[in-house]
Amino acid sequence: MKFSATTYKIALLLLAVPSSPVTGFVTTLRRQASQFSAISSSAATSSSAALSAEACNIGIFGGGTVGGGIVEIIESKREKFEQMTGKSLHVKKICVRDLNKPRDFTVPEGCTVTTDYDDILNDDSLDIIVEVMGGTTKAKDVVSAALQKGRNVVTANKALIAAFMPEIEKLLTDINASRDENVEFRYEAAVCGGIPIIRSLQSDFVGDEISMISGIINGCTNFMLTAMDAEGKSYDEALDEASKLGYAEEDPTLDVGGFDARSKLKILMRLAYGIDVDEEEISCRGITELSKLDFQYAKMMGGSIKLIGVAKALSPGKVAAFVSPAYVTSGDSLYAVSGATNAVEVISKNLQATTLIGQGAGRYPTANSCINDIVALAKGDKTPLPFNPPAKDVQFVNNYESNFFIRLKYRDGLGITRQCGEVCEKYGVSIHSILQNPITKRDDAAFVLITDKVPLSSVKKFCAEIEGFDWCRGPTFFMPVLREDWETAMVP
Ligand SMILES: NC(=O)c1ccc[n+]([C@@H]2O[C@H](COP(=O)([O-])OP(=O)(O)OC[C@H]3O[C@@H](n4cnc5c(N)ncnc54)[C@H](OP(=O)(O)O)[C@@H]3O)[C@@H](O)[C@H]2O)c1
Repeated sequence: MKFSATTYKIALLLLAVPSSPVTGFVTTLRRQASQFSAISSSAATSSSAALSAEACNIGIFGGGTVGGGIVEIIESKREKFEQMTGKSLHVKKICVRDLNKPRDFTVPEGCTVTTDYDDILNDDSLDIIVEVMGGTTKAKDVVSAALQKGRNVVTANKALIAAFMPEIEKLLTDINASRDENVEFRYEAAVCGGIPIIRSLQSDFVGDEISMISGIINGCTNFMLTAMDAEGKSYDEALDEASKLGYAEEDPTLDVGGFDARSKLKILMRLAYGIDVDEEEISCRGITELSKLDFQYAKMMGGSIKLIGVAKALSPGKVAAFVSPAYVTSGDSLYAVSGATNAVEVISKNLQATTLIGQGAGRYPTANSCINDIVALAKGDKTPLPFNPPAKDVQFVNNYESNFFIRLKYRDGLGITRQCGEVCEKYGVSIHSILQNPITKRDDAAFVLITDKVPLSSVKKFCAEIEGFDWCRGPTFFMPVLREDWETAMVP
């Protein structure tokens, strides 16, 4: 490619790969500390009650990965839970699809395994109904029926909540309007499996103002991106390995297309900003267009690429959100989050940066969150507004400003830079830097533009027009640069 003199701003970026190890994890211990004090006081007051513990009976829809984990934990921690809650927890019924399927956990003595929903729904001796069967149709039926019968419900079903949050909320309000004691709905495991982000957003930021939530909220894609970056694996190799290890959903499109992350982000947005956004409106770009080339350029800049879900308060009353691969610097708290691990960073006025990192899926991490909900209910803890209060005047804006990384594949020729510059100028896209590896194939080359802070809408227009030139080979790829201070964060 021949670079001609231009009137627009181009700075060639001379980049040094940072050599310092990654630091900057701000893993919060506040949660554990508060849980510890809650446990201590509860244990102290309930030791006598434990001697004559009343029963807390549990019915579970689903005896698979998560359901089996819940049963195992309840059985192995019975005495402790009795001391903590003053009640003896019993799994009385488990509903599954196939009675003949072997179970990889021991069905407790006295527990009935059934395929009939009514065996659970019509059993008035059950205090808590746990829904861990997945899906949105039957799961919605059993959750609604259980709530209507005045049963407290625990679920791990993110898809159900993302699809029916307003309905669930209205149902709870209607049911609880005529009751002295509220029916409770808990869903800690639904977002980021084992990470206690739901409870944290319900209880740890009540006097705070959240300016941004950003996170690695899909373990499968993070596993794949780590393998592509660290081991140089291709997209297909990485997906194959993720599927073999059980990290991918049954339909991996939900993972690699960013849709799973978007459902989780929608739930986090309601909790953080009181806003219920139609999922379809949240800009969503998965990892399917990423290539080894993008990792090479990201490395050249000293960072890496992560699939991130971001929700950000713009001006007062406006919130933007997106799911997208993003360039992260090596100093970023999300940079070193590797494999199937999840992480959520909450930036807020009082607490500043709080990052929770942990297992986002898997039998025991997910069951652990369900157990926390079950034990909280058995203790009588209350969460009157499970989705936090709705905000009145907050508007969702499907546009945001950022520095962008734009990768263009091209067939070499004269005037390409000029044409790019002209299109940039037309849409107000100011270029911060141009990165280019030495050209080895003139008809299949690539370069990367790093823009200044510009609106997403302008980048989309720029890319659409560039794709019309005959030298442009295939679709362009763009992604935001995660932080505004990315340049300083890059310096080792
Ligand atoms: N696994 C994770 O790491 C994870 C993490 C976070 C959240 N979650 C959520 O937790 C839920 C459960 O996931 P999972 O991994 O435990 O699923 P799973 O291993 O596939 O287990 C599902 C269980 O539900 C039963 N089931 C499914 N459909 C049913 C139906 N229509 N009627 C009666 N029983 C039915 C199945 O019965 P059979 O065994 O007889 O087929 C099975 O026991 C899902 O909502 C999922 O999104 C899972």
